[in-house]
Amino acid sequence: MKIRSLAGVALLFASCAPARSPAPQAKTRPAAIRASAPVPTAAALRPVDFAMQIRPILEKRCQPCHFTGGKMYEKMPFDRPQTIRTLGQKMFTRIKDPQEQELLRSFLAQEAPETNGVAR
Ligand code: HEC
Repeated sequence: MKIRSLAGVALLFASCAPARSPAPQAKTRPAAIRASAPVPTAAALRPVDFAMQIRPILEKRCQPCHFTGGKMYEKMPFDRPQTIRTLGQKMFTRIKDPQEQELLRSFLAQEAPETNGVAR
């Protein structure tokens, strides 16, 4: 009796072993993929900084109207993160570049930390 159950246990282990063995191999693969992955994946995980990442896009594309001296500056100043948060999805009607949209989307999705809200 005892011997049989031991054999049963041994069989269990034996049947488990092949199922487990591919795991270590599989582990090495994602690491390799991650190493060769383009930067945006990692960048998307970091909080988007308005001054460093969003504002430059707007300065490049939405001058002069939405910046100091522009005709829309009073109503929609693009040097303030709050303006962009308020406009939200509407920004995508004018920002069409997929990478820029991605940045904007991440920015809009993140909580509004008031440190980011301080405009200069
Ligand atoms: C030539 C001047 C000018 C430029 C450049 C400009 N805008 Fe505007 N924008 C306006 C004016 C005028 C309005 C208000 C009238 C209107 O809604 O078109 C406006 C309104 C908007 C609105 C609110 C209207 C809506 O869609 O509900 C958004 C959002 C906007 N602009 C985004 C942008 C973005 C993003 C850029 C840069 C990619 C940009 N604008 C560049 C002049 C400009």
